[in-house]
Amino acid sequence: MKIIITENYDKMSKIANKIIEQIISKKPKSTIGFATGTTPLRLYDLMAKSSVDYSKITTFNLDEYIGLSKENEQSYFYFMKSNLFDKIGIKTEQINFANGDIKDYKKECERYSNLLNNHQRDVQILGIGSNGHIAFNEPKTPFNSITHIVKLTKNTIKDNSRLFDNKNDVPKYAITMGLKEIMQSKKIILLANGENKAKAVFDMSYGPISIKVPASILQLHPDCTVIIDKNAGSLIKKA
Ligand code: F6R
Repeated sequence: MKIIITENYDKMSKIANKIIEQIISKKPKSTIGFATGTTPLRLYDLMAKSSVDYSKITTFNLDEYIGLSKENEQSYFYFMKSNLFDKIGIKTEQINFANGDIKDYKKECERYSNLLNNHQRDVQILGIGSNGHIAFNEPKTPFNSITHIVKLTKNTIKDNSRLFDNKNDVPKYAITMGLKEIMQSKKIILLANGENKAKAVFDMSYGPISIKVPASILQLHPDCTVIIDKNAGSLIKKA
């Protein structure tokens, strides 16, 4: 695991942007795994403004809330379309998402898992939850998990409520890529900023590899780069 501590959020995003640009310059038809959330927003902004042509990539997203349609402005699908995909010329056919708005969830998990097995990601972008989750793999998720339905923890619902008008509107369940599938990506870039991520980042990087901190599995990935701002890196610096 390579760790890059940057001065601030903007520098963190710019380094990630450069790495992604290099990957696409070498392979314009790359398959990229994307994360939602506030952390990658500046990166997506930079990608949208980049001179690199992203129009040939195939995308896979990490997760989606259960019960929200693609048209719902709080859905992750809507988030990706409006913050990135529409801005870089990605057509619907190139976008792969788990559908959270269907009745047969078991079948949907199988469908998405099969797709992931057949399309190795060249790079997977990740954020991290303050409890150490990656995608919606909450603490105690087995390391060999594949796409599954998850009941969100109180902590995650609280963290995500800032993006909803009312805490009660935050969906309680999500469909998420599993840890085994995240690890299948050739390269992983994890971003984190802010003091509230410092403990999760420290435990992920230097703590024991344990299902108590799902992100700690990334210590076993052969090509994982962690890019963080100095606040998220504060405990690492202290140590
Ligand atoms: C979102 C996702 C989550 C977030 C994490 C951090 O697709 O997979 O694991 O990356 O919850 O969220 P932010 O960036 O909002 O702090």
